[in-house]
Amino acid sequence: MRGSYTNTPLSIFRRREVFEEAHVPEEFLYREKELEEIASCIRPLLQGFQGTNMKIYGKPATGKTTSIKKIFEQVPKSNIACVYVNAMLRQSPYAVLSEIAMNLGQQKAMPDKSTGTVKLVDTIMRLLKKRKSAIVLCIDEYSCLSPKDIEAVIAPFLRPWEFGKISQDLNSSVLLISTSTAAPPPIRSSMISSMGPRTLKFRQYSFEQKYDILNHRAEAGFGKNVVEDDALEVMAGIMSVRWGVQALKLAGEIADTMGETKITGDIVSRTLKKMGTGTDVHSVLNSTEKIILYEISKRKKMFSGEIYSFSLDKLGLKKTRTYEILKRLLKLGLLEVTEQNNKGKTRIFKTVQGGRLNGMS
Ligand SMILES: Nc1ncnc2c1ncn2[C@@H]1O[C@H](COP(=O)(O)OP(=O)(O)O)[C@@H](O)[C@H]1O
Ligand SMILES: [Mg+2]
Repeated sequence: MRGSYTNTPLSIFRRREVFEEAHVPEEFLYREKELEEIASCIRPLLQGFQGTNMKIYGKPATGKTTSIKKIFEQVPKSNIACVYVNAMLRQSPYAVLSEIAMNLGQQKAMPDKSTGTVKLVDTIMRLLKKRKSAIVLCIDEYSCLSPKDIEAVIAPFLRPWEFGKISQDLNSSVLLISTSTAAPPPIRSSMISSMGPRTLKFRQYSFEQKYDILNHRAEAGFGKNVVEDDALEVMAGIMSVRWGVQALKLAGEIADTMGETKITGDIVSRTLKKMGTGTDVHSVLNSTEKIILYEISKRKKMFSGEIYSFSLDKLGLKKTRTYEILKRLLKLGLLEVTEQNNKGKTRIFKTVQGGRLNGMS
């Protein structure tokens, strides 16, 4: 036991901050096309024209929010204000609009709530006029607002010339993001023509893409080759990138408490148990691996010879292939092995945790 519970003199972490939720990764992979689409909505503002509006949608952890953050990093701030509001955290038009005003530098008290949102919009338009600035407004998780509330928030930016003299020349681009798979959530029919037709779907990452993204994050946070292939494979196989990043952080913490310098499959198994997310390490196994594991679990224990004959007879696998499978199951922490001296050495395999296999029956 080390001297203190809080002081870890040797840590596997090199840059812990890369695993924080708010961190914007330096390397944002596989989203060039999407970034370009978003950039093309904003580009006209740079030339003094109206921007394009767009609805962005897709499953969780497909990089929607990060894309906006990446684009906002690149927009020249001198005459374009980039404002991001998450409607999950501000669930009324008043709350969203006062956040926008604050983002634009409003320091004085906000107009009284009782005057409704008209005063607030006026404040925002004056701030933009003073800055001689166009605006890119991103409302993330917009379906947390009702269609009527969405209208109250975006209508002044979609049709600024109708709002009043002060906003007559305002150029804007409105980007609405939502977590939905099939199509973006509806907005009021009165808003549809002003929003325009553009939508952008963020597709889910493939296994290989997730593996690559998590590998880059692991290298940024821990250094090269600290997280073993098996461990990354499990994470990419069963969870989203968001959960994978969380799992990497927790795995690092577990490795630290164990005094380990590598993140192995076994550490990932422990991590998953701790996360209790319903994620199941078995779901990364292929059917052959599952059959062998299930057989061992059914028989409570098996000698290595028995396993080799079982996989040859039932699955037609050569000894070398079975050996590889056993090695992987051991690495993933699903099997344990003991040696017995019984007229020569023999190895006995058992499943870990009494061999209760989720979703196998
Ligand atoms: N292409 C990618 N490259 C690197 N990290 C990514 C990528 N896509 C998502 N992430 C990471 O996954 C997590 C979730 O991404 P986020 O943009 O918040 O997803 P969404 O908004 O679609 O739910 C964040 O930690 C983010 O850094
Ligand atoms: Mg998001």
